[in-house]
Amino acid sequence: MRRKLAAGNWKMNGLGADLAELDRLCAAHPAPNCEMLICPPATLIHRAATLAEGTALRIGGQDCHAATSGAHTGDLSAEMLRDAGATHVITGHSERRADHGETDAIVRAKTEAAIAAGLTAILCLGESLAERESGRTLDVIRAQLSDSLPEDFSGETLVVAYEPVWAIGTGKVASLDQIAEVHVFLRSQLLERLGADGDLIRLLYGGSVKAANAAEIFAVPEVDGALVGGASLTAADFTPIVTAL
Ligand code: G3H
Repeated sequence: MRRKLAAGNWKMNGLGADLAELDRLCAAHPAPNCEMLICPPATLIHRAATLAEGTALRIGGQDCHAATSGAHTGDLSAEMLRDAGATHVITGHSERRADHGETDAIVRAKTEAAIAAGLTAILCLGESLAERESGRTLDVIRAQLSDSLPEDFSGETLVVAYEPVWAIGTGKVASLDQIAEVHVFLRSQLLERLGADGDLIRLLYGGSVKAANAAEIFAVPEVDGALVGGASLTAADFTPIVTAL
C-alpha cells in the first residue's frame, strides 16, 4: 500500500526565526504509513534537518542542479542537499519552469540527478489556465510526464505532484472531479509505462490546499497526499493537513 505524504514547500520564505514553526511541527504525529516533509529555502536545510532529527519530520530541497559539481555559480547539486540533511527534492515546480525557463528535458535531468544522489524526487507537472480552457489538459500532462520522467525510478525514489498552475497561490482549488480526472489519468499512464510497478508511485495534488479542504482532496481516487505552499508556513496551518492524510 502506498504511503501518504504531506509535503510543504516554503518557496522563498523563511528566516532562522521561522525554524520555531518546524520545532512545533515536530510534535505532530502522522498516522501510520503517512509522512510529512518540509522543503524550506536552501539556507535553512541543514539547521532544519538537525532540528528534525529523531522526529517524523523530513526535510527536502526545492530544486537541484542536474550536474554533480562544477562551474554553476549559485546552484546546488543534489548531493549537496543530501549532505545538508535533505531526503527529498522538488523538481520541475511551475515557478522554476516559469522563472528559470526549465524545460521537460532539464526537469528530467534534475530528477535523474536527485535519484542518483539518493534523494526522493517530487516531480511537478500541471497545465496552465489557457491549456485547461482550450481542452488540452490531458495532452499537456501526458507530454510533461513522458518527457520529464527519469530513466530509472521506483516508488521509493519518485513522487509525482499534479499542480494546475492556475490553482497555485490563487485560492482557486481544482474541483474534486478535475483532480480525480488527472490523477486517474496519471495512474493509467504510469501503469502503461511501468506495468504493475506504476501502482507504487505516489501522486500528490498541489494548489491552494489548506486544512479546510485537505480531507476531501485526500479522499479523491489516486490522491496520495499534497504538495502545499502557503498553508505549510506555520505549524498551526500544516499540522491539520498532516493529520487529515
Ligand atoms: O508547491 C506548492 C504549490 O505551488 C502550491 O502552493 O498551496 O500556495 O497554492 P499553494
